[in-house]
Amino acid sequence: MYEQISHTLLNDILNKLEYDASQHDLRHFYTRLGANFYGIHSLLQTLYGDRDDFEQQALKLVETMARQYIERPPVLRQKDIDREQDYNWFLDQKWVGMALYSQGFAGDLQGVTKHLGYFQELGVNLVHIMPVMRCPEGSSDGGYAVSDFRTLDPRVGDLNDLKQLTQEMRERDMLLVLDVVVNHTSDEHEWAQLARNGYTNFQDYYYTFTNRNVPDMFEQNMPEVFPETSPGNFTWDEEMQRWVMTVFNDYQWDLNYSNPEVFIEMLDIILYWANRGADILRLDAVAFLWKKIGSTCQNEREAHLILQLMKDCCQVTAPGVAFIAEAIVAPVEVIKYFGEDAVIAKECEIAYNATFMSLLWDAVATKNVKLLKQGIKSLPVKLERATWLNYIRCHDDIGLGFDDSDIAKVGYDPITHRQFLINYYTGNYPDSHAKGQPFGHNKKNGDARISGSLASLVGLEYAIETGNSDDIDSAVNFILLLHSLILSFGGIPLLYYGDEIGTINDNSFTDDPDKANDNRWMHRPIIDWDKAERRHTSGTVEFHLFNSLKRMIAVRKEINVFADFNNRNLIDVDNEHLFVFERNSLDFNDKTVLVIANFDSKPQSLHLENIAVGSHQPMPQIVDLYSGSSPDIFNNTIVVPGYGFYWLSTKL
Ligand code: GLC
Repeated sequence: MYEQISHTLLNDILNKLEYDASQHDLRHFYTRLGANFYGIHSLLQTLYGDRDDFEQQALKLVETMARQYIERPPVLRQKDIDREQDYNWFLDQKWVGMALYSQGFAGDLQGVTKHLGYFQELGVNLVHIMPVMRCPEGSSDGGYAVSDFRTLDPRVGDLNDLKQLTQEMRERDMLLVLDVVVNHTSDEHEWAQLARNGYTNFQDYYYTFTNRNVPDMFEQNMPEVFPETSPGNFTWDEEMQRWVMTVFNDYQWDLNYSNPEVFIEMLDIILYWANRGADILRLDAVAFLWKKIGSTCQNEREAHLILQLMKDCCQVTAPGVAFIAEAIVAPVEVIKYFGEDAVIAKECEIAYNATFMSLLWDAVATKNVKLLKQGIKSLPVKLERATWLNYIRCHDDIGLGFDDSDIAKVGYDPITHRQFLINYYTGNYPDSHAKGQPFGHNKKNGDARISGSLASLVGLEYAIETGNSDDIDSAVNFILLLHSLILSFGGIPLLYYGDEIGTINDNSFTDDPDKANDNRWMHRPIIDWDKAERRHTSGTVEFHLFNSLKRMIAVRKEINVFADFNNRNLIDVDNEHLFVFERNSLDFNDKTVLVIANFDSKPQSLHLENIAVGSHQPMPQIVDLYSGSSPDIFNNTIVVPGYGFYWLSTKL
């Protein structure tokens, strides 16, 4: 868009840029800057327009983008161009992800590089390596308290190790996801140290106050993220003699994005990691980016504007890099992190589907899909060219983040129902074999979330202990059922390391004083590679899980309608144990696939008249694409085994 004010400013900025087009080939940079500058300028104006140094800040921003563009390695610049052409690249069903800690998975980055063949064996081609940046030696919130954004944690490796890894991943057509913790820094970060030493410009990087007046006003509306271990949202810093906002742990200082210096620094860091070869950047805790007295300080409009600005700027320098929004918030809020519009107010291409995740856990506990169906129906349709990250488990706790109104609609009382789920997953409910622990219990309002590994939450740990082979089979089938859904729902499935071999809780974290008070460590395993070897021995749990998942992943990649083009229809059936949806395509050549998942332990039946495939007369032959065989059908009724699933296609 041509608009005089921004255009004049852009001309001024380009005249002042210390980079000279004759020394560097900046053609692509200029084209993209021209295309995005109107948007960048309007966002900057809205966020920082009232500052006297507005134009200087705008210049600094463009300089940052130009410098990082110049530093961008040719191979990545070429990737940008390829992805600009193939702009739906991240919607493809060929992507299957896994999230892991490099230390837990294989010791360090070199270990991950050595195990790239393991991912390929399974079919995983997108790897999210959780925080790799330097963080304090002691407590660091699993690396989410960063003390230096430009070096690696020596325990993980160094930049050469990362280079080696990215090169090998590129050769294997695999994508790398890295975290940028944009909301806060560790109190050991240089900026925090300078703030402590009295530099007021660095105190302005954070929210710091000499007394409790402002903090107390904030506290009236701010919820607590870690109520047990880090109650309140402010911490008194003795050295600085000021209160500092610490929404997460007391050693994680929230960054102040109302200061444009902070924005520019963080953009520089985002582009720095883009230039180190990350294909996708996971922006951590994005819901918290803007703080306003009188609000919960989550999901504020300005947080969205910050993300739009980050996206616009990244599109100028590194357009091939996609963003993941890590916003574990209410369903109506999550969807907003894709942006308001696919072109003019774009934010993150990918977002965690925390709603689907928590609804799946509801269905596991209740053995029915009432709330799952209701919750999915209430989830607003997302933008085009945006996709979900569908997951069952991750390194965090499971929040019961569904809407109270949805819970009520399906006939439960929200408070009692949530309490039931906590009891169920902590094994305090008759017949529950789950071995989770409550996380983040808030004594003030009774809220809690759940920690525990997938295998332990679905009863595999219990079944192995008791040696009951039927129970082992049921738990394994449950693990497969849940994966069949994240692999078919629409979006990028994100497996969690260890789940592919049924890794149970690891309670050794209690021996480590830096971890003992955070039971999320129970599900952040150290992979036992001897156990993983058993994936080659038939008859073992590891063999069953790994090879079934491997098959599922391979089949997913063959099914075009599993690419995410908002092509999913939820199908209402009159059996409350069955979750049924259809993936379809406008292309007549593509098959429609009907996904049926049975959350009950007993076989369930479904009348084919209820669903589209049943309307064909005579009945076409129905095939389950996963197993390659036809399911049991009797009198136009299909039978789904207990904890079974189908990916059905009608054979033409
Ligand atoms: C994100 C991370 C979580 C961390 C928090 C604070 O939610 O996933 O592990 O505790 O951010 O950084």
